[in-house]
Amino acid sequence: MSTPLAPLAVICAMAQEKAALRALMSHIETRDLLDRKVTLGQLDGHDVVVAESGIGKVASAVMASLIAREFGCRGLVVSGVAGGLDPELHIGDTVIAHSLVQHDYGQLHDAGLKSFRPGVPPLGPDRADFAFTVAPDLVAKLQHIAGDIDLPDLPADLLPASAPKAWRKRRVIMGRILSGDQFINSEVVRERLHRDFDAQAVEMEGAAVAQVGALLGLPVVVVRCLSDLAGTDSHLDFPRFVDAVAPGAAMVLRQIVREL
Ligand code: ADE
Repeated sequence: MSTPLAPLAVICAMAQEKAALRALMSHIETRDLLDRKVTLGQLDGHDVVVAESGIGKVASAVMASLIAREFGCRGLVVSGVAGGLDPELHIGDTVIAHSLVQHDYGQLHDAGLKSFRPGVPPLGPDRADFAFTVAPDLVAKLQHIAGDIDLPDLPADLLPASAPKAWRKRRVIMGRILSGDQFINSEVVRERLHRDFDAQAVEMEGAAVAQVGALLGLPVVVVRCLSDLAGTDSHLDFPRFVDAVAPGAAMVLRQIVREL
């Protein structure tokens, strides 16, 4: 008889993101952890522990550390929504991280922010390795899975508040995901983040959980379905799309768990 694998810790910032995942789970049990309800169960036959952390880098890092230790998890996952940075992407597309950057960590000069690796003093000689990178063998597997997924079309009545882009099949790609304690609601900032970091999506937790994974020696997978495009209309698109796109991340994660 084979030994069961330790569970995966899954962090969702928001209730909608957790609910989308719960809808795909079986054998569900609830446990209390501090002031939170943590959901234990199976996703496609694999044990997972799912927690709603709250929004932002600190909230997600605390919850990831707690549930990883409490339940002896074998890996950390972040599942939910993000703002798109790459103009090639549409609302409803999904980005799986090959690398993650805390875009708000660093040294602030007159000319802007110089990035440093979170955890080291943001001073002194350059630290070029400010990104948390996913191991190449895991990236190769995730890439293969991304290429195989078909997500259902978004409901036809949900058109972006911004000018709708022409219809096409929803894409699932590998890319760089940025995290910071800011909701991006500016075309100028979207363009700068895309250019400076060569990044595809922005959210508020993934790179913090990546830092926890690096400290605990655990692999980290971040899956984000785009609720908005981080520009002038992101404050309108986010509430309009969050419920419709959150299940996209959960569906992609189910496929990942199935095949990893
Ligand atoms: N999560 C979803 N959309 C976002 C945005 N525009 N900025 C930061 N986090 C997000």
